[in-house]
Amino acid sequence: MNPHPLIETARTLVAGDRGLLAMDESTPTCNKRFAAFGIAQTAEMRRAYRDMIVTTPGLSESISGAILYDETIRQRTHAGLPFAVALQQVGIVPGIKVDNGARPLAAFDGEVVTEGLDGLRERLAEYAGMGARFAKWRAVIRIDAGRPTPGCLLANAHALARYATLCQEAGLVPIVEPEVLMDGGHTLERCREVTEETLGIVFAQLVALRVRLEGMLLKPNMVLPGKDCPDQSDTETIAAATVECFLRSVPAAVPGIAFLSGGQTAELASTRLNAMNARYRSRLPWSLAFSYARAIQQPALETWRGIDANVPAAQQQLAHRAACNRAARAGRYDAGTDAPLQT
Ligand code: G3H
Repeated sequence: MNPHPLIETARTLVAGDRGLLAMDESTPTCNKRFAAFGIAQTAEMRRAYRDMIVTTPGLSESISGAILYDETIRQRTHAGLPFAVALQQVGIVPGIKVDNGARPLAAFDGEVVTEGLDGLRERLAEYAGMGARFAKWRAVIRIDAGRPTPGCLLANAHALARYATLCQEAGLVPIVEPEVLMDGGHTLERCREVTEETLGIVFAQLVALRVRLEGMLLKPNMVLPGKDCPDQSDTETIAAATVECFLRSVPAAVPGIAFLSGGQTAELASTRLNAMNARYRSRLPWSLAFSYARAIQQPALETWRGIDANVPAAQQQLAHRAACNRAARAGRYDAGTDAPLQT
């Protein structure tokens, strides 16, 4: 018997050693990244940038799915194809970010909740009609003194579960993204505690709201010390803490865990994913994959700088980072040369 289409799509996204490319920056975030390189902040430049990404030769060798933003899914490539169609044509599954961003959580000073449930059923139907086969919703959890509070975790987990059931009703695989931020001076141990607590509440809500775990993917942070923590742990410690945390928290029914990069350098995001797969892959119930934005795009953006003549060099950078992460899924990334290991 063929598996349910949702299960098939979820499995396809994490099959083999490929992973996901997040290219779903909201307009303000994309503009901020453009501004850092003096790139004009217009709809056409955002289109041209995303065009450069999806027309990268050989991208589908390493990338199984790409997450688009609302503006992009309504735009066309230079060749005149809607972006979702251009992705499908090269063998990349199109996805769509559907949350409306994080806003202050009433009565919880300094904490946020992700919004976007109003009208979501109708938006999902429209995106499915445009060719999207999966979706993404990001919850933002900040570590600070006394934070996150249980109330903040519950509000965000409940919204993630509401989103996920609506996606599955619409035939889209939900990517559930509870991101514990790297901002701050907290220790690795504190990140592990908070990530474990967050995932516990998220999966309790997913199960309570009848999300089919086999037809979803999890997109979490790695377990890392805060950016300002004086003790920046080594790769082995991070890999062990992350795997242990997820083994305790993520049901085996979930087909894959696709990490976000969260502000790690491109090389560290590859190195740490590689360490987890090299040491633990054969013992894990789910795949450990990637769903990076900055850790795949940043070198290409720095090379492109909004100049047409730079497109081939930028595409090479993008294909290289994607290939490094594909290698990291197989435990075959060489941090010394920043390249896939040669056999
Ligand atoms: O929602 C966050 C993005 O999809 C992942 O971005 O890899 O730059 O953290 P990042």
